[in-house]
Amino acid sequence: MPPTQIIVRPAEVKDAQEIEHFFRHVRRRYITFGMEDLPQLIREDLVFVAKTGGLIWGVLAVSPKDAGEWGHIRGIGIIDGWQARAGVGLLLYGARSHLRNRGVRALYIILTEEWLHGPLHAHGFVQASRLGTYLRHAHSIPPVPRDPAALRLVRPDDIPQVAQVDRAAFAPLWSYSARELTYLLALGCRMVVAEMDGRIVGYACGEVTGDIGHIARLAVHPDRQGQGIGRQLLLDTMTYLHSVGVTRFSLNTEIDNPQATRLYESLNFRRFGRLIPVLVKDIGEK
Ligand SMILES: CC(C)(COP(=O)(O)OP(=O)(O)OC[C@H]1O[C@@H](n2cnc3c(N)ncnc32)[C@H](O)[C@@H]1OP(=O)(O)O)[C@@H](O)C(=O)NCCC(=O)NCCS
Repeated sequence: MPPTQIIVRPAEVKDAQEIEHFFRHVRRRYITFGMEDLPQLIREDLVFVAKTGGLIWGVLAVSPKDAGEWGHIRGIGIIDGWQARAGVGLLLYGARSHLRNRGVRALYIILTEEWLHGPLHAHGFVQASRLGTYLRHAHSIPPVPRDPAALRLVRPDDIPQVAQVDRAAFAPLWSYSARELTYLLALGCRMVVAEMDGRIVGYACGEVTGDIGHIARLAVHPDRQGQGIGRQLLLDTMTYLHSVGVTRFSLNTEIDNPQATRLYESLNFRRFGRLIPVLVKDIGEK
């Protein structure tokens, strides 16, 4: 009998229904996007399907970051009956040249799924950092200091400047491009900017999910850090989220980021739940 061929190829929009069906039924899955976003993800990002004999046995979805050389793993699924380690290896191997053609030189994943640990470690992923979730009740918010920056809501034409602040404040892995920031706004995030001497020097984003107010972004330009602007932006965002009825605040941050963790802890945020590893892998080498 001829060996059964294994094909790993970029998905096309016409595959969306089959991929959605796959993700809905597969037991070992990791998904960080809503199925309504799948066609757009296929069009703009990189989704790979792995097939044998016409049957999908694996899917890998990667969003290349606009800036830098990172690709963010947004989804992986391996059908029952396939060994996860072999399946993940074949998906990564099949996707590699396509990813490199899109300028992706390294992959990262925010690993919330236990079953993926072993297979990813086996294929060269290493832990780069760990994210902690911080929570706080939404009452007793200190007043927003009036100084040193002037705060106002973002305007659409501010986005390029906000993206510059973001790029200066965050490591490339975590930075958001103008496109990603616009997407945040489109999702309903409330964005406030901090201005000094007519220049945007920081921003924060808050979003509401049920009764939780999530602080999705907070950044101050490195030239202006340590002057109280981060505290102003955070308190302003908390005050807004409280005013629209949330009962708790949440946020995620790297636990080895003392500027951020001290700020949050000084405002009575407390770490909650387990730490989430961030794994990375270089795919730039031959
Ligand atoms: C985290 C960040 C937003 C804080 O903004 P900031 O304007 O520098 O912070 P503030 O001047 O308002 O300081 C507020 C508190 O943060 C802590 N803090 C600020 N800088 C610090 C430093 N270098 N070391 C330790 N703690 C620090 C302190 O608790 C400080 O309170 P204090 O002034 O009463 O001591 C800013 O450092 C930043 O943009 N970092 C890069 C992006 C980032 O990590 N964002 C948050 C990730 S979710």
